[in-house]
Parts: sequence; structure tokens; C-alpha cells
Amino acid sequence: MPRKNLIAGNWKMNSTIPEAVVLAQEISNRMERDWLELVDVAVCPPFVDLKPVKSVFEFDRVDIAVGAQNVYWEPKGAFTGEISIAMIKNIGCAFCIVGHSERRNLFGETNEEVNLKARALIEADITPIICVGESLSVRDGGTYLDFVTAQVRAAYAGMDAADAARTVVAYEPVWAIGTGRTATPEQAEEVCAAIRATVSDMFGAEVAESLRVLYGGSMNEGNAALLLAEPDIDGGLIGGAALKADSFIQIVKEAC
Ligand code: PGA
Repeated sequence: MPRKNLIAGNWKMNSTIPEAVVLAQEISNRMERDWLELVDVAVCPPFVDLKPVKSVFEFDRVDIAVGAQNVYWEPKGAFTGEISIAMIKNIGCAFCIVGHSERRNLFGETNEEVNLKARALIEADITPIICVGESLSVRDGGTYLDFVTAQVRAAYAGMDAADAARTVVAYEPVWAIGTGRTATPEQAEEVCAAIRATVSDMFGAEVAESLRVLYGGSMNEGNAALLLAEPDIDGGLIGGAALKADSFIQIVKEAC
């Protein structure tokens, strides 16, 4: 079965509730309902915006999923400032980003934590979008394939094939995030293919063939078509270009 593209907007730490509702409403208004037969679409706003954004899509009966940008793996208790999987599940989140490079680099998230989060999400039937990607120094040093595939192996440690089949991977080279310096389609394809090969090695060809591997890092309406044309790129995790309905909608259109 061919893989259906997934376009996911990562709003990062942008949008108060009123701003988020306006953006969600604009996206809903402009989304041709036919496109959603051909492409899966999700937005990942900040925690406080999740419920209001979900309500906009529910009211409009538009099949745009909502996801969180992070979560804690413990079920409940004395973890001041954290948000549990049950909390985002209750809101109706279908996805949750884990291991974004900003979380790894600014908040010290480790491969082990990424693995704990991904496994706990799968147990709750929320699809983790597992982010991997190398820094500029690793890219320039030439070891980026080893680096990224090691991140993949660590994220999937202890999972079985059925678990792995319920995940999404996003390849996001750190040097391309928010910099306007997109990876070329060839650069992105090389790493996305290596990610798929690693998952095939760990869990078999069937899981690898059905796995969606997204590209992220300055993807926009101008470069999306060429990136999405690559055989191992099955969608995008979009930051800056997801904050404007126009550009986000254009990318969704390119992914149909
Ligand atoms: P960007 O962010 O599209 O602004 O580069 C992508 C991401 O960090 O997920």
C-alpha cells in the first residue's frame, strides 16, 4: 500500500489562545475537504492551545488532527510543570512530537527520554513523531548517517515490530531548522532512506515500507514539491511556514 503523506505543523512556542483559534480557523476555512482523502494533516500547537484548536476543527467537522509538542511519560504525580499522556489523550491528540532538536539541545532531552516518551505514547495509542537529525558540525564531519541512525536505534530500543509500525519519524537536520537553509532533496532523501533501512534492519521490511518518514527544516511552499517527490520522504514537519495559513495550505496542496 502506498504511504499517505503527513503534513504536520509545529507551532513551537507561538500563539496565545486567541491567536491559535484564528490560525486554526483560517486553516480550516481554506482546507479543501477532498485534499484530506490524499494527505493527512495535523497541527501541533502549544499545550494551552490544544483544546481550543481541537474545538475549532471539531466544530467545522474537518479531519485535521491535533498533536502535542512534548509530553512526560509518567502517568501522574509530583512532576511540577509536566503534562501527562492521559491529559493530551483526553483532549483528543492523535500525535505527539518527541525528541525535537530544540528539546534535545535547549532542554537536555536524551535518547533514553525520547525512547520512554515514544513507548508510553504508543501504549496510549497516540502516534509519536520521533525527531532525529544532526548538527552542522556532525554534517561537516561526514558522520551524519551514523549519527542519525544511532538516534533511530536508541529511540526504538525495546519496541517490537507492532510498536514500531505505530510511529512516524521526522528527519530534521539541525542546520536547516529555522535557518532558511533547507536540505536539498538529495541530502534529505539520503538520510530518510538510511532511516528506513535502519527500521527495516530492526523490525523487518514490512514495517519499514509502511513507516512514514517526514522531512523538516525550512520546508515551505516553494521547496515542498521537490522534497516530497523523493521516494523516502512521506511528508513534512513544518515550523515557520505552519504559522501562516497561506503557506501551510500551499504545502498541504503540494503533498496531495
Ligand atoms: P522550520 O522548523 O520549518 O521553521 O525550520 C521545523 C521544525 O523545527 O520542526
